[in-house]
Amino acid sequence: MANWYGYFLTSTKRSYRSETENTMRHIASFTLLAALGAASLAAQSVQYDESRKIWLLTTRDSSYAMGVDPNGELQHLYWGAPLWRAGDVPAAAARRELSSFDPPAMLEREEFPAWGGTRYYEPALKVTRADGDRDVVLRYASQALRGDSLDITLKDIRDDILVVLHYRVYPDYGILERSATIENKTAAPLMVESAQSATWNLPPGEGYQLTYLTGRWAAETQVNHEAIHQGMKVLESRKGITSHNINPWFAIDAGDAGEEHGSVWFGALAWSGNWRITVEQTPYQQVRITGGLNTFDFAYPLAPGEALDTPAFYGGYAGQGFGAASRLLHRFEREQVAPGGLTSRLRPVLYNSWEATTFNVNEAGQKQLAAIAAKLGVELFVMDDGWFGKRNNDHAGLGDWTVNPQKFPAGLKGLIDYVNGLGMDFGLWVEPEMVNADSDLYRRHPDWVIHFPDRPRSELRNQMVLNLARSDVKEYIFGFLDKLASENNIKYFKWDMNRPLSEPGWEDVPVADQRKLWVDYVHNLYDIMDRLRARHPKLEIESCSGGGGRADLGMLRHVEEFWTSDNTEAFDRLRIQEGFTEAYAPKFMSAWVTDVPNMNGRSTPLEYRFLVAMQGALGIGANLNKFSAGDMTEAAKMVATYKRIRPAVQLGDLYRLASPRAGDVTANQYVAADGQQSVVFVFRHSQEYRTAAPAIRLQGLDPRAIYRLESVDNKLTGRQPPLSGAYLMQAGISVNLQGDFDGTAVILEKVAQ
Ligand code: GLA
Repeated sequence: MANWYGYFLTSTKRSYRSETENTMRHIASFTLLAALGAASLAAQSVQYDESRKIWLLTTRDSSYAMGVDPNGELQHLYWGAPLWRAGDVPAAAARRELSSFDPPAMLEREEFPAWGGTRYYEPALKVTRADGDRDVVLRYASQALRGDSLDITLKDIRDDILVVLHYRVYPDYGILERSATIENKTAAPLMVESAQSATWNLPPGEGYQLTYLTGRWAAETQVNHEAIHQGMKVLESRKGITSHNINPWFAIDAGDAGEEHGSVWFGALAWSGNWRITVEQTPYQQVRITGGLNTFDFAYPLAPGEALDTPAFYGGYAGQGFGAASRLLHRFEREQVAPGGLTSRLRPVLYNSWEATTFNVNEAGQKQLAAIAAKLGVELFVMDDGWFGKRNNDHAGLGDWTVNPQKFPAGLKGLIDYVNGLGMDFGLWVEPEMVNADSDLYRRHPDWVIHFPDRPRSELRNQMVLNLARSDVKEYIFGFLDKLASENNIKYFKWDMNRPLSEPGWEDVPVADQRKLWVDYVHNLYDIMDRLRARHPKLEIESCSGGGGRADLGMLRHVEEFWTSDNTEAFDRLRIQEGFTEAYAPKFMSAWVTDVPNMNGRSTPLEYRFLVAMQGALGIGANLNKFSAGDMTEAAKMVATYKRIRPAVQLGDLYRLASPRAGDVTANQYVAADGQQSVVFVFRHSQEYRTAAPAIRLQGLDPRAIYRLESVDNKLTGRQPPLSGAYLMQAGISVNLQGDFDGTAVILEKVAQ
């Protein structure tokens, strides 16, 4: 019975895919209520058992429970497959010490432990009082329940140091959002030294495995999978940005999960500055995940009456593997996180000038590219770096956001009108947070860059970072972007950020406030984006940081797309994109077709490059002046094909059928939200011994439905009559991929139910 709720949802999943959201909700709640009768509590996303002080938070895919123990401390009780009855969950019990070295606090699973008492693991909160006292022990104080949201207030055993734990359940999405607000209601200042969003506890046990994403510039989001042992693994950024090195996402399985089977617990932190997630296995068979603001170089003062909010940490549980975990996140991101949610438009096919022209932009050259791009079916033309100030290379100009009069004597209007006349929207590259030493802005305001007085100001790519935590810098940045968007028909900013922060001094504020820079910088960045969007409702933003250095769920609240990587080499991209989709939906994965030879000196066929890029938000970054007539025909055909499958790619369910990490063949399948269409991309790295590519078994189809199959390039092998979903999922499709870097896409249309 305990799994009944889960069973119901699994068994209705297929029909749900073909219903509208509202219909689904209606059917789900109606059926649940009818079936449960008096036990209709299961329809509630948050159940509170007041007599035993237990909360049970339930989504379509998972439940999460916590309760107050006899000492008044909030203990974690359950995280896993859906339950429907708070009464089943045992009350939180007080623990006995194992020895004087293993105190009860270490054996408990405290929901949000502060550093105090006999706690030696990673705390969620650490505070120093003005008198040096650093002991904080939190006890349950009160709760406030509003629909899908629950606030639980904890309070120190002596002082008015309060922590409000925020929980928001997304019942239809399988996602739980957690964050915390730390409030200083004492009469003296406090210094917060660790402010985490949440601690997550897994079911007690050992043998768990951690999956996470690492990389560097041009090699982002590589998938790592390793055993969790006793001790602590730290995933973090100290760079002031999300960083290419580790992405704030994790997935943990019990050592037995695959793409489409097994239990997976996952989480993603919504923060674009210094973040930290620790994965810790205690000596007591307990895995704890703690995440929020990075504790490194962190000190946030709170005057009496002040509060600090921590970023949202989203978590979920999927019973059907890593693929299911990704799909939960993808849908949640598209519908609940990204601007516009369900009402946002499909991502347009874009052209970007960077790899074609680098800094050598001018009106005639850009018009020439735009004219060719329009012929291919491009919908958004983006002019990249080089259009402003004295920006002829990366040594000068950042900070001077006025149009370069030599390159654009009549301003941007001539180009934008021309682009619009071709039926395309216009987008513009900006890097607002930066300044070159060789710029009018730096000559006017050397004090605006982040630095320690009388110390070196490290330059990276010849540039320094403006201190966005300062309100004058913030207003300057908002001002010039607002002016650009007001005076020109700009529909899209590619917002770049080409170096990490360094030497994070802020001399104009008292010493105790200087480290607020790490946090205030990010809030001000978000704030500028929000204000811009409010003033220019049609404006869209792409988040780029030398590629994928600022891709996270905090940024996604403010932008439509991420630039995935500066590495546009198609074969390398397969792995970068695989990792990216572990955490982020393909709709947000900007992917361009560029010239060859590309990175690694590798040349892949134009069709292969298109097929790789068509798995996300398609863009073209090639020098179109060099396209042959044959290239033009091929490219126009691929763009048209992409537009046909775009809703499935951008809004559908992704199944990673074969990983580029596992062998010669990579395959990804997208199933449209209404189930009518599916598209399968298959790539082959290098054929050996004339071996045929293996059959690709499909996923996510209706076994009883019949599908018509169509290859974009006649590479389906054998006779291809319409086939049932059951056959396609059991026996699969065969494609004729030969030689090196061959690829194809097969489109399936449902023809009969
Ligand atoms: C970064 C971006 C590129 C391009 C250049 C321009 O590297 O990731 O796409 O915009 O800057 O300087």
